[in-house]
Amino acid sequence: MSFYGLRGDVEHRLMTEHLAALQKLFQEAKAPSFFSDNLIALNRNLSFLYDEKFMNAFSAAADKNIPEDEAKLWRLHTLAWCGRTALNVPGDFVECGVYKGLYSAMLTDYLDWNEIDRRFYLYDTFAGLPDDWSSEMERSTVSDGYEWDGTYDAVCARFAHYQNVDVVKGVVPDILAERAPKQIALLHLDLNAAKAEVAALDFLGPRLSDGAIVLMDDFGRKEQLELAEALMGWWTAHDHPILELPTGQGMVTVNAAKLQT
Ligand SMILES: C[S@@+](CC[C@H](N)C(=O)[O-])C[C@H]1O[C@@H](n2cnc3c(N)ncnc32)[C@H](O)[C@@H]1O
Repeated sequence: MSFYGLRGDVEHRLMTEHLAALQKLFQEAKAPSFFSDNLIALNRNLSFLYDEKFMNAFSAAADKNIPEDEAKLWRLHTLAWCGRTALNVPGDFVECGVYKGLYSAMLTDYLDWNEIDRRFYLYDTFAGLPDDWSSEMERSTVSDGYEWDGTYDAVCARFAHYQNVDVVKGVVPDILAERAPKQIALLHLDLNAAKAEVAALDFLGPRLSDGAIVLMDDFGRKEQLELAEALMGWWTAHDHPILELPTGQGMVTVNAAKLQT
């Protein structure tokens, strides 16, 4: 069970006193339930649990010693769907905000990426949020619990068996001008920084294929309101609605004609 964003003592009471009882009730009734990542779903089919290929990719990518990895199961299911669907349109895949590569490792495994004639660009400073492209508030939210030492080398090693994955170290958006695909089918934004995500959209938006998918990992998170407002502003200005998912993610399917200006 992973619930966050409340005062520590409230968080603890929520999980141990209230949610634990509800979860037990559902377990005893042998009724399906999901209690994780600030998301409670009761009596849903949870069909992704029976997608063997997805569950194998998830288990291989998630670190068993990191509860936050395991908690992201539903978010990873969303990305898996987006990735598979994005194969219907031309273009490469891009992730801005990679950290240790949890999401991208799951997706490349799930899609048998070596068999796919596209590239996957993974952008990160591998050193945290740069001051010029994030607010103090955003830095304080993300820095807790993140360790950067050796991350770049570890991510390069993690994807070394793929010929078509580019691990690119640099600051978004600056690095995009140096190295970015011309046509994009999937864009995963997970920088946790409003200014940088908007700048990435400014640069990459005109390169998104018609029907491309943009998945924004933190769009619906209350702790990231600054980010949600910035993303909402950008997409509204380009006349695209955002689907806010119960996982906290936001998703858009692209009408390329509206992003060419
Ligand atoms: C929440 S983590 C990404 C998690 C990742 N998607 C995963 O699979 O676990 C956010 C990452 O964004 C990176 N980042 C934030 N702002 C950045 C920027 N302007 N340029 C490059 N990387 C940035 C940080 O270094 C951090 O690794």
